[in-house]
Amino acid sequence: MADLKAQKPVIINSVGLSKEFRDFWNRPKARAVNDIDFQVYEGEIVGLLGPNGSGKSTTVKMLLGLLYPTAGNLTIFGRSPRDVKTKEQIGYLPEESYLYKYLTALETLDFFGSLFNLSAAERRSRSEQLLEMVGLSHARKRPVGEFSKGMARRIGLAQAMINDPSLLILDEPTSGLDPLGCKEVKDLIMLLKKRGKTVVVTSHLLSDVEDVCDRVIILYGGKIRATGTLNELLTIPEESRITTPLLKPEITEKVLKILRENLKDENFSIDHPRKNLEEFFLEVINKAKADSVETAGVVSGGRIADYLTHPSDSKSVLEELTRAPEPVQELKEEVLEKAPEVKMEKIQELVTEEAPEIKIQEQEEKPEPEKDLNEVNKKLSQLLSDTNNDSQ
Ligand SMILES: Nc1ncnc2c1ncn2[C@@H]1O[C@H](COP(=O)(O)OP(=O)(O)O)[C@@H](O)[C@H]1O
Ligand SMILES: [Mg+2]
Repeated sequence: MADLKAQKPVIINSVGLSKEFRDFWNRPKARAVNDIDFQVYEGEIVGLLGPNGSGKSTTVKMLLGLLYPTAGNLTIFGRSPRDVKTKEQIGYLPEESYLYKYLTALETLDFFGSLFNLSAAERRSRSEQLLEMVGLSHARKRPVGEFSKGMARRIGLAQAMINDPSLLILDEPTSGLDPLGCKEVKDLIMLLKKRGKTVVVTSHLLSDVEDVCDRVIILYGGKIRATGTLNELLTIPEESRITTPLLKPEITEKVLKILRENLKDENFSIDHPRKNLEEFFLEVINKAKADSVETAGVVSGGRIADYLTHPSDSKSVLEELTRAPEPVQELKEEVLEKAPEVKMEKIQELVTEEAPEIKIQEQEEKPEPEKDLNEVNKKLSQLLSDTNNDSQ
């Protein structure tokens, strides 16, 4: 750990970070985050863990520049979370479902891709790869409103990766997933780590993320109660365990004799190691799969999208974003300039209660791939004008 800290750049630096919510009369209502200090280093997977209401989502929203801290200092990539350059490099999976329910899976990814000024061809290719990766290729033409909770998490994850971000912030990515889906999300997080991505993941179910986190921060009542690697936090240094192949009774007897002689009055025990229920469950399912047992539900993906496995090139998104628009592109100038901001704001707007639902006209004909961009532009302009109207 010390090595990692010494060599790797700091991605997130929080000093004395606090957030107090106030009520209508400006009286303090909840101190959601209370004076927290932490760092996240490049390439780390950090778990922000804690029970419901402990301040995880509030911290995440401050990281994204969606909420202003009441006090303290927060930098991401050495800049303010509100800086557009910061937002460009972040992928975010919100806790609540925020999807436009009438858009299909493919249109959803295409829409979020368009906010990053990706060309129609690039959006198409990334969307297909991401759908494959999260196991939703079969549902690509289905409106996301019909998706189960697990499917909604997967499309959300795909959305978070459309801009090939270097920092991913995933708020409760495993919530509502069955153990298989949960395992897939964890595998995906591990693949992203291999590619050099930094990941912050929150969870109230500790076992869900335990095996992927390099380090965890445990929050309770808006304060950090413990932080460290799982080894540091979970190892019991006062006890020893020896694991061997199954011992014959006479050998066990010999071992016990030695232990009794040496430990005197101290207690000790010999037992069989136990796998955890998740491991067991996955074994059962994998065996059933190997035996070709048909399941009616989920089709698992698990292949990481090609563009994400190419050697890490943190400049590519920037290049994508700063490249001259292609002739076919008609996205509004201000949208292009503020793309990452618009994306964050769209997500923020969608996760608030009164999120306007965009109404999309019935499509009689299936759009050709070339027409996709126009479709998206139309939707986007409509969406923007809807939003403007709403706020007036
Ligand atoms: N917009 C808000 N207004 C008032 N209180 C809030 C708001 N958002 C969160 N809180 C309060 O802040 C605390 C932390 O919430 P949150 O960060 O959502 O916790 P977690 O994500 O760990 O479940 C809770 O007590 C919650 O009620
Ligand atoms: Mg939360």
